[in-house]
Amino acid sequence: MVLVTGKELLSVAKEKNFAIPAYNCGSGQLLNATLKACEEDQAPFIIAIHPDELSFLEDNFVASCIDAANKTKLPIAIHLDHGASYEQVIHAIQLGMTSVMIDKSLAPFEENIEITKKVVEAAHAVGVSVEAELGTIGNTGNNVEGGNQQGIYTDPAQAKEFVERTGCDSLAVGIGTSHGLYPKGLQPKLAINVLEEIVKETGIPLVLHGASNNLDSEIKAAVTHGINKVNISSDIKIVFAERLREELNDGNTEKREPNVLFPAPMKETEKVVHQKNQLFGASNTAKYYFQ
Ligand code: 13P
Repeated sequence: MVLVTGKELLSVAKEKNFAIPAYNCGSGQLLNATLKACEEDQAPFIIAIHPDELSFLEDNFVASCIDAANKTKLPIAIHLDHGASYEQVIHAIQLGMTSVMIDKSLAPFEENIEITKKVVEAAHAVGVSVEAELGTIGNTGNNVEGGNQQGIYTDPAQAKEFVERTGCDSLAVGIGTSHGLYPKGLQPKLAINVLEEIVKETGIPLVLHGASNNLDSEIKAAVTHGINKVNISSDIKIVFAERLREELNDGNTEKREPNVLFPAPMKETEKVVHQKNQLFGASNTAKYYFQ
């Protein structure tokens, strides 16, 4: 199909009660592996690019994403993950992203509202959708997305006020996940009761960040109870990096061609993408967007 906005993707997911996966495509290999697996699954998805990933990949990577999206038969959005400022968001819109996140979750409530509102006004003027964040995602270290050291649950009443005053299209909520991998022995239990309250109060699609390394049963419960976008970064990168390490350390010191080194790591990423698409209920949902 074509490039669509985040709002178009998430509104169908909300109506049909599944979640759109957002994969952080921090390299061309991750983009191609993700795209291939999603095409095979007929799963619409979001190409998420964090500002640090964008600085590394450079602006023309977004042009490749747009081209790739326009050549598939899937509805795809290209999304700025964790935009930290108004300027970063405007830059992403200028590059052609169809969805942006403004993350001022670490700022005081009123400041979060003020900046999010300003971003919404600018983005909506050019048909781009906006994800905001209230409450915080924990941070386990060793990841690009950051977050608070300990996540703070989103307050449902505050979420209602935030959505009404900002006009954001979707909201990232704090219900107990953290970006990155959890330390040994720590397995968070997600606050599904808090999520249910936020769903009732806001009525807009909700987003789960930091969804790697959680129990499948916890993620499934979150999707069943109203999460319509799930962000995955670490889980698709770990398997890639582990397999690449094996390729580099297999004793063949002559190995150097990217087209020899990367296919096996990409296959590992594809396997994870297939599993997540299934878990989020996103497989075989592309058909809903063609009606
Ligand atoms: P994980 O690294 O836990 O998958 O978090 C990804 C994320 O939330 C991107 O915004």
